[in-house]
Amino acid sequence: MTPPPFLRPPILRALLALGGSALATLGFVQALWRLAGSDPPLWTKLLFAGAVAVAIGAALSLPRWWLAILASAPAALIGALALDAPGWVYALALTLCLLLAANSPGERVPLYLTGAATRRALCGLIAQDAPVRAVDLGCGTGGPILALAAANRHPQSRFLGVETAPLPFAAAWLRAKAARDPRISICWRSLWRVDLGGFDLVYAFLSPEPMPRLLAKAAAEMTDGALFVSNEFTDPAYVADQQLTPNGPAGRRLNLWRAPIRPVAAN
Ligand SMILES: C[S@@+](CC[C@H](N)C(=O)[O-])C[C@H]1O[C@@H](n2cnc3c(N)ncnc32)[C@H](O)[C@@H]1O
Repeated sequence: MTPPPFLRPPILRALLALGGSALATLGFVQALWRLAGSDPPLWTKLLFAGAVAVAIGAALSLPRWWLAILASAPAALIGALALDAPGWVYALALTLCLLLAANSPGERVPLYLTGAATRRALCGLIAQDAPVRAVDLGCGTGGPILALAAANRHPQSRFLGVETAPLPFAAAWLRAKAARDPRISICWRSLWRVDLGGFDLVYAFLSPEPMPRLLAKAAAEMTDGALFVSNEFTDPAYVADQQLTPNGPAGRRLNLWRAPIRPVAAN
């Protein structure tokens, strides 16, 4: 089922699924009470609530990882309340979540970091002694962009990381300051507002969600010869020119496109 436009943000669909599941569970408990005169055990209610939330979420076309969150949400909520922790603990947990991933519901990109083997493979894609302009779109805590800067010695190179989640941005910014390398900048900026035309290497490690739009942006803006690298995620409309498997065949892949990037149909 295609959700109506006002339900496009997955967080709204997830909340709707949880609301529906709460109502259905209430109905389920009352029906059992009337029929059998007994209150079902807590685990039955939680299982029922999780299953209904997943069913509604699936009907609203939520992706699989949202369904996993919905399945565990009722138990997690009851567990958190049972802890009976002081109010500030919940406030702190919420604040931390917001600082870590306030942009996730809109962008549908969670925070996870590029591993060491992939960083090394990425660094192998740039020259060591020639000027390079590289950007990490959603630089997280700065690992890949700092590694790229460390792998290149040319004083005219430029390394830009953009980020819109507060805590990762602060970490990347502080790490860049500590590196004392004037060629590195970490900016609070949406990746959608970066003109990709000025870069030799564009790196992204996001999620499946933004890839169709991002590859179309790369195809429209990147200059011929420049390299677009996406860690793991791609879009069937844009077949990668090359794939690297720095973590072995079962690990995450680096997908490489050399501009001009064209969708499959236009090749
Ligand atoms: C999977 S993490 C990758 C972090 C880093 N590039 C790495 O590989 O270690 C994706 C990052 O993109 C950020 N992000 C998501 N949407 C963004 C946007 N529109 N503009 C800038 N950053 C964004 C997230 O906050 C998150 O830190």
